[in-house]
Amino acid sequence: MLGPMQTIDPQDELRVYDAYVAGRLSAGLAAGVRTGLFDVLDSDGPLSCAALAEASGLHERGVRAWLAAMQAGQLVQEVGSGDFALTPAAARDCVRNKPGSLAGLIDMEIENFLSPALVIEGLRGGGPCVYGDGDPWAEHAADPAKARAFSDAMHAIACSPALALAEKAPLENARRLLDAGGGSGTISVALARAFPQLHCTVLEIPAVLPHIEERAHEEGLEQQISALQGDLFAQAWPTGFDAVLLSQIMHDWSDDEGARLLRRAYNALNPGGTVLIHEKLIEPDGGPLANALVNLDMLVWTEGRQWSATDLEQLMQQAGFEGVQAQKTYGYWSLVSATRPG
Ligand SMILES: C[S@@+](CC[C@H](N)C(=O)[O-])C[C@H]1O[C@@H](n2cnc3c(N)ncnc32)[C@H](O)[C@@H]1O
Repeated sequence: MLGPMQTIDPQDELRVYDAYVAGRLSAGLAAGVRTGLFDVLDSDGPLSCAALAEASGLHERGVRAWLAAMQAGQLVQEVGSGDFALTPAAARDCVRNKPGSLAGLIDMEIENFLSPALVIEGLRGGGPCVYGDGDPWAEHAADPAKARAFSDAMHAIACSPALALAEKAPLENARRLLDAGGGSGTISVALARAFPQLHCTVLEIPAVLPHIEERAHEEGLEQQISALQGDLFAQAWPTGFDAVLLSQIMHDWSDDEGARLLRRAYNALNPGGTVLIHEKLIEPDGGPLANALVNLDMLVWTEGRQWSATDLEQLMQQAGFEGVQAQKTYGYWSLVSATRPG
């Protein structure tokens, strides 16, 4: 019905429409990663639309539409007349097999995209539901390909934050670190590099153990990184550590389970040891938007949520930790650390 429209604050005029179309940028981004368009532009660019279509084995009309969208999204730029190249941001983050690239993470989104249908499923059932009714970690245990895709995605998302974390982590005097639920060991690699005296034990489910061993071997860090089969909840954690790292672990679990994890971290530590929580935190104003949106991912993937520094501090103090400190590390990431009293 066409009629007089309700007047709203001009700065809110396009808020809903812009939120609605934002998914197109995300879809174009994922399609560009999966079809290799970003890779070809990186290796062979600048290229015309026709040359890019031919080199990628794609339809020229499709590539033209994609270029127009990605150019407006500042992932592609026109250089010279009719030739396209990646912007520096896309060249760093959208190309496969580059250190720090987000391509692995974005690629996983194709199969497990946070679609409206999935969010509705989470809203109705309370999640997790990304693989249907199955528990995601049990699915990874049963399907090595899913476990591998997930480890690769976690590696992609953690590479740059890991380097920044290594610069801020107070581990100068630590000798033994437990990386609980450490994925393929991306953060342990950065910490082992930054602190040559440190040995990192990456505790993981069986499906992920080969990924840790491969990464440690690839990085030449077999002496400093070892994989340990274990269960965060079902088995006792080993003890005698100077530091325990929980990177993107607290946000996977309910508040009660989070409290249990912190008690277990406390018991795994020597007196004077440090717990390190690495998360994308929610600020007092409810933002940033990128971190608040991760709550939807957590809904469909896990039993958890994104934490604020205040909530974490409370939980850490309840577990017996003292001297809680929160600091920003890289982009949306923060480190919250605390000490087991000596
Ligand atoms: C969100 S990922 C975080 C990976 C890594 N810490 C990082 O920040 O990149 C959660 C990890 O916890 C592991 N995990 C899930 N349930 C577990 C359990 N019961 N025991 C041990 N590890 C578990 C998963 O295999 C996965 O690698």
